[in-house]
Amino acid sequence: MFGLIKTWKALKAKGIMGINQRNADYVLKYNKRSLYPIVDDKIITKLRAIEAGIQVPQMYGIIETEKDIDRLREIIDGHNDFVIKPAQGAGGDGIMVIADRFEGRYKTISGRIIRHDEIEHQISSILTGLYSLGGHRDRALIEYRVTPDPIFKSISYEGVPDIRIIVLQGYPVMAMLRLPTRQSSGKANLHQGAIGVGVDLATGITLHGTWLNSKISKHPDTTNAVDGVQLPDWNGFMTLAASCYELCGLGYIGVDMVLDKEQGPLILELNARPGLNIQIANDSGLTWRTQRVEAHLQELEQAGTQETPAERVRFTQQRFGHVQPRN
Ligand SMILES: Nc1ncnc2c1ncn2[C@@H]1O[C@H](COP(=O)(O)OP(=O)(O)O)[C@@H](O)[C@H]1O
Ligand SMILES: [Mg+2]
Repeated sequence: MFGLIKTWKALKAKGIMGINQRNADYVLKYNKRSLYPIVDDKIITKLRAIEAGIQVPQMYGIIETEKDIDRLREIIDGHNDFVIKPAQGAGGDGIMVIADRFEGRYKTISGRIIRHDEIEHQISSILTGLYSLGGHRDRALIEYRVTPDPIFKSISYEGVPDIRIIVLQGYPVMAMLRLPTRQSSGKANLHQGAIGVGVDLATGITLHGTWLNSKISKHPDTTNAVDGVQLPDWNGFMTLAASCYELCGLGYIGVDMVLDKEQGPLILELNARPGLNIQIANDSGLTWRTQRVEAHLQELEQAGTQETPAERVRFTQQRFGHVQPRN
């Protein structure tokens, strides 16, 4: 705990964003309430993305009512692996990653064998709202299971790492790679025990990691170094994240992406209240970056112009890349 306080103190000097500032100056200011459903419901996000020509994991089916649960066998017919998740879930809760079938049963990503009725029970819990924000009724989404690109094999334990980029008015300001651990059971959510690793915006090379609130340099399960790894197609990820502004209209979001072995970069979800731990993973505060973007936006407005996603990516890469001087 003491180490964490020290870390946050050190970050304060670097323009760290606190929770009150995030909510008042960014979430409330830039995110229109009426647009929240687009990001708070993963089914709506997916449909929007498809409309905008942005790649997402394929949807196999939606279960909305108890009666619909009978359709599960039909929905997963022909698929050996798939993922079931609450449409309005968060933090990795309620997600079931099925990696294979086994003698009439199913094998989860962590190797647990489960029966069909256990999956049905899980779906029923999702529908009652056990995992949804606010606890109201929800829908279950059944989708394609992402197979991570082999590049992550040495620095990830089971499951799929994801790449989170914070985007302000279409400008990607900070990035983090999240790596599942044995503890996080195949999910890349920090509060499930995944590792957060900062990423240099200019190059896509990983910086140091944080795990359970302390700094680390090696993955606890694979013992390989998590820093200095070049993420493939980095500009592709940056441009994809930047273009999510046009997709959802929300001005302050966390864009979560994955790299599928066969399908390349895919959008997993968007978040209207992205967490602040990304600052620890990057050893850098968000505020000094967001304020520079805001100043730039003012200049553009005065000049009566706007920038394309590619121009916005170039702007933040030139200013916030670690390889670049800070001023
Ligand atoms: N289709 C999928 N295939 C494989 N793993 C997935 C899939 N969807 C989610 N996951 C794993 O679960 C984690 C959380 O999923 P996500 O859709 O971001 O929901 P949440 O809102 O709960 O964070 C991801 O970071 C990833 O590790
Ligand atoms: Mg997520």
